[in-house]
Amino acid sequence: MYVCICRAVSDGQIRDAACQGVCSLEDLSKCLGVGTGCGRCRQHASDLLTETLAEIGKPVISIALAA
Ligand code: FES
Repeated sequence: MYVCICRAVSDGQIRDAACQGVCSLEDLSKCLGVGTGCGRCRQHASDLLTETLAEIGKPVISIALAA
């Protein structure tokens, strides 16, 4: 399922990124472009990143939702 329509980024890509060491929304935006278009996906992407990091036992560095 696509989380970010503007950049065609799926939930699986976000989960994979978290497993590969991405631990902030800022880093997620840099590596996948999530939230760099309209920004509507940022909350969902942030929630998914936080959820995935909790599942794999990694800390969340920062979740900045400001555009
Ligand atoms: S849906 Fe992600 S930036 Fe627009």
